[in-house]
Amino acid sequence: MTDADMIKHLWTHKTQDHPSWSDEDLMIERGEGVYVWNRKGRRLFDAYAGLAVVNVGHGRAEIADAVREQVAKLAYYPTTRQFSNPPAAQLAARLATLTPGDLKYTLFAVSGSEANERSMQIARMYWLKVGRPRKYKVISLTHGYHGATLGTLAICGQPDMVRAYEPLAWQGFRKVTAPYPMWDRGAGTDEDLVRRCADQLVDAIREEDPETVAAVILEPCLSSGGSIIPPLGWLERVRDICDELDVLMIADEVITGFGRTGKWFGVDHENVVPDLMSVAKGITSGYIPLSASIARAKLADAFPENSREENVHPNTYCGHPVACAAALANLAIIERENLVKNAEAMGARLHAAIETQVRDCAIVGEVRSRGLMLALDFADPDRRGQPLDRKLVASLNTRALDKGYIAAAKDSVFRLAPPLCISAAEVDELANLVGETVRELQNEVTRAARSKVATA
Ligand SMILES: Cc1ncc(COP(=O)(O)O)c(C=O)c1O
Repeated sequence: MTDADMIKHLWTHKTQDHPSWSDEDLMIERGEGVYVWNRKGRRLFDAYAGLAVVNVGHGRAEIADAVREQVAKLAYYPTTRQFSNPPAAQLAARLATLTPGDLKYTLFAVSGSEANERSMQIARMYWLKVGRPRKYKVISLTHGYHGATLGTLAICGQPDMVRAYEPLAWQGFRKVTAPYPMWDRGAGTDEDLVRRCADQLVDAIREEDPETVAAVILEPCLSSGGSIIPPLGWLERVRDICDELDVLMIADEVITGFGRTGKWFGVDHENVVPDLMSVAKGITSGYIPLSASIARAKLADAFPENSREENVHPNTYCGHPVACAAALANLAIIERENLVKNAEAMGARLHAAIETQVRDCAIVGEVRSRGLMLALDFADPDRRGQPLDRKLVASLNTRALDKGYIAAAKDSVFRLAPPLCISAAEVDELANLVGETVRELQNEVTRAARSKVATA
């Protein structure tokens, strides 16, 4: 059987775009640092760290060693029925020191989607526990993405993703507008935008009746929605609103956690402590799947240590010893190599270098970044306030591959999220590649506009 024959058995083969590269050419076989190699031996710069996952970079033998050792010692034991295991307990204690404030109690799961499920379930259980059973609703943001389970699709702010499931008619979920400065700032300031969105959030909670609202869930930066970076001040305002109206705040740090934005967590940019934090991806840099919902003491204290009733039901792989061992090795690398600081410094360098590269490109509406979450947002130079044709933006996916790197283009946005271990030389290499790609698209747009004028 050829690779092409085997790939056809992957369900995802049916769901992908099939751009100019063949499926076999996109079979990735190995990785090292910021690079991956396909099966034919072609090297590609992984400027998207898989799916903004591989924070410490590819091919870390240290994590492989930790995994091998743990598999040999104890590959699996549940953390239900009062059992635990050393890596799970060590990791929970480690997370309690890394996360801000009194976020100190961790419920592990496997994927980011499940972490958000657990966060919403803990929120609901908390309100039941403290005698406020009417509080169950969850408010989320437009453009938000929180996972692919039915529960997390209910809080998804991307209509195309959820339309098929709408007949299932979820109860108690509502969306409010996320602050998207480039497209929604208008003639006002960032502060005006934050105020408008915050007012909408307050109105939504009041209309629903605060006594029925359990939580607001949001990403500090909205990654899948287009690396949207709300102005500083937004998270603080959401925290205040949640406090005023007695609603829990859940931060979905699945992508922003563990250094991506140049601080350990996205909420650290505003010194905000959410009531619950969902984490995944960077916790193991994807070496083994692992996720968690981390709760504040205020919530955990509502469930006494001597309780015999189950509250939130954990899944089979909650606190998986091998995944937790991988996470401990991963966190040790992040700390030893100062990757959070590196993300801040290299993010600033990449941003400045890309801005220089694309300064003459009228199609680039904005370059924005926080740490190593970076995006170019494309505007139509001939139609003020309109995004560039999404097909043209999508063409950047293949153009990037042709130039030897992987990034992610969708709607009006081209997103980069390279591994946090990226060096200055690699940043410069990537900025050059991005510059060439965007200038190529700009030239094509300019040529098309000229030939339209010539034939008119
Ligand atoms: C912010 C955010 N939350 C949740 C998820 C879902 O995580 P998973 O795909 O591991 O279920 C993602 C995935 O990209 C994400 O970006």
